[in-house]
Amino acid sequence: MKTMTKRKFQNRLNDLDSKTWLKFQKSWFIHNPPPRRKDVLRHPAKFPESLAQEFIEFFTKRGQIVLDPMVGTGSTQIAALRSGRHSYGIELNPNYAEIARQLIDEERKNLCETVESLASLVITGDAGKFSELAAKFEIPLIDYMITSPPYWNMLHAKGSKTQENRRSANDLDLFYSDNPDDLGNIDDYDQFLDQLVDVYESIKPFIRPRAYLTIIVKNVKKGGMVYPLAWDLCRRVGKIFQLKDERIWCQDDLHLFPYGYGSAWVSNTFHHYCLQFRNE
Ligand SMILES: C[S@@+](CC[C@H](N)C(=O)[O-])C[C@H]1O[C@@H](n2cnc3c(N)ncnc32)[C@H](O)[C@@H]1O
Repeated sequence: MKTMTKRKFQNRLNDLDSKTWLKFQKSWFIHNPPPRRKDVLRHPAKFPESLAQEFIEFFTKRGQIVLDPMVGTGSTQIAALRSGRHSYGIELNPNYAEIARQLIDEERKNLCETVESLASLVITGDAGKFSELAAKFEIPLIDYMITSPPYWNMLHAKGSKTQENRRSANDLDLFYSDNPDDLGNIDDYDQFLDQLVDVYESIKPFIRPRAYLTIIVKNVKKGGMVYPLAWDLCRRVGKIFQLKDERIWCQDDLHLFPYGYGSAWVSNTFHHYCLQFRNE
């Protein structure tokens, strides 16, 4: 008589229980960033550590390796530490890279011996030269990448004057840098897209087969036009990695402005796309 042996369930992707797994599967979520500390306020556009942590905990197991090639002030790496993962970050602007190192040091002190064995290296450099940096700093094979690029040259666009005045009055950066290698300083949209996609393509050999990647981005409105950055990245990066889908990050704590009131449709864009790819 044949005996039926039931195969034991094994979660090979992450360490989550089924309830948390299910919750993450909703294709949209609301996440209102907590108020930022003064030192990270200097950076014009960071994502919250708490958001990055949810993604890292879904797409990796404890002890695995996370990469952010444009790490800004280090949100991804703080989140990686909190969730017990190794992390590597690259950032072009040395001031942001230094802030990231300081925040990581502080976080390590808070988390004490639980994170002693974890690597969290912030490299000041150009993500466009990823393979050189990977060789120089001995970056190991990556289990998951989460990142957010400059939203084209949106920070240079003439936006809300009050916001600009408030930031410059408080000595906060209006854009990331004046470095020509800063992708946020490229004026031509197609050239920006080409260079950004080249960065992701150059990282591919360093990503473990079947590992996931998350790119957080918005479509860009400029001069009465919409540049569908998120959708363009789906098509372009989708030729390098397999596009899986998107999760839509909504914010519902922002002030509404009556753009185009009485004459035209101009929405308040309170959502970002978290684009999911897999190295298949
Ligand atoms: C949207 S921000 C990332 C913010 C980051 N997720 C955080 O939470 O702090 C984009 C970052 O890309 C950096 N950047 C732009 N061009 C770069 C390049 N060629 N190499 C590395 N970093 C670059 C900018 O300095 C900026 O900090």
